[in-house]
Amino acid sequence: KASVKTRFVCNACGGVTPQWAGQCPDCGQWNTLEEQLEAPATAKGRGSTRVAGQYAGDSGVKRLAEVPRDQEARFPTRIAELDRVLGGGLVAGGVVLLGGDPGIGKSTLLLEAVARVAQRQGALYVTGEESLRQVGMRAERLGVMDADLRLLAETRVEAIIELAAREKPDVLVVDSIQTIHSEELGSAPGGVAQVRESAAQLVQFAKRTGTVLFLVGHVTKEGQLAGPRVLEHMVDTVLYFESDSGSRYRLLRAVKNRFGAANELGVFAMQDTGLKEVKNPSAIFLSRHEQPVPGSAILVTREGTRPLLLELQALVAESPLSNPRRLAVGLDGNRLGMLLAVLQRHAGVSTYGEDVFVNVVGGVRIAETASDLPALLAVSSSLRDRPIPQDWVIFGEVGLAGEIRPVPNGPDRLAEAARHGFTKALVPSKNAPARGQAPEGMEVLGVERLDAALAMLR
Ligand code: TYD
Ligand code: MG
Repeated sequence: KASVKTRFVCNACGGVTPQWAGQCPDCGQWNTLEEQLEAPATAKGRGSTRVAGQYAGDSGVKRLAEVPRDQEARFPTRIAELDRVLGGGLVAGGVVLLGGDPGIGKSTLLLEAVARVAQRQGALYVTGEESLRQVGMRAERLGVMDADLRLLAETRVEAIIELAAREKPDVLVVDSIQTIHSEELGSAPGGVAQVRESAAQLVQFAKRTGTVLFLVGHVTKEGQLAGPRVLEHMVDTVLYFESDSGSRYRLLRAVKNRFGAANELGVFAMQDTGLKEVKNPSAIFLSRHEQPVPGSAILVTREGTRPLLLELQALVAESPLSNPRRLAVGLDGNRLGMLLAVLQRHAGVSTYGEDVFVNVVGGVRIAETASDLPALLAVSSSLRDRPIPQDWVIFGEVGLAGEIRPVPNGPDRLAEAARHGFTKALVPSKNAPARGQAPEGMEVLGVERLDAALAMLR
């Protein structure tokens, strides 16, 4: 077989060199050269002169109306929380990257998922990290020993593809992509070049054969490590598995999904018999303090298609620094800075000279603006050392002019809060239901401006 040529490509400027060097000869950046396979030259290809009309005939160009547009066939994994995040199930030829910290439960989730899939479809689980015996022991713990699942311990991508081509599974899991390498590259396994090349070959296989491909990828705290981040653009769906340290809850989030909504959240609890789905997670993150505490506000956010009750905590403390800190965990830090300016300008509440910390309890990240109002009320509550009553729930966007703007799906949010025993809701006027339309047992207070909202809590 002809030897495969490699070349080195600068990941800063794209320059190509035949030999590795510490510094890119084109742009002068250091440590940016990565090994890549040179595309094998095809038999015709180079040198052949094109003849006019060569591409005539069935041109491949179609009118929009002729394009088939039936839904992509999906098959569910029948782990409902996973299917929800996937946008309804797996799509033939779809490639899913599952990222997360080591030990969070990626292997556990996928072993359980493919064991279920294997009841109807062919499934092959390739492990590059563990021995088959270890996988077997985990399967025993999960109670999926009767699944017709095929296993393979292998780290060479060429071997995996060859075996997968023979076994023809409907679903192929590769755990993890960092352990897989191509024998055609000289560099060490685990490096960016190896991860990218192995993933590219597997993705190509999945697309060519219509196989569903799961790639597992470890992420470090900094989100670095040679790995998942460089793969995000190569795959159809990117799922991240996260948790608050010490919590048994695990959140599965789609950060990219070519086949569905990108903000769905799946919730699991880690138990000794594996991951259990949390079917109704709306209130699991509420701490329910015995006494009302200053700086705590309960809000209703929407994660994908369902409402979630969350606690937001703020701590405002006199700062020893000339440049006080503003730290947001679970919220956008820049937005917090902006909101604090609105609080000062339009409600006369100054945090000048104070450190401000805001945290979303449970390790959840809020990616919508409905947390604006509860964040500011929590800050003001901490600053004044006056708790917000415990039966209050709050949501609403805050504009730069100090106005309170409505958020989508107000009725859903109110209904969910009422279901969990909240009796007062402080919301944007436009989200307040008409007289008599509020959920039973709940009083809804609509506000138009930030200072009015603060006055409600005096
Ligand atoms: P694992 O799936 O191996 O994590 P990852 O593949 O993301 O590195 O899960 C690791 C942790 O989960 C491990 O610390 C043990 C725990 N665990 C349970 O608590 N219950 C179980 O049933 C299983 C299989 C694992
Ligand atoms: Mg693992």
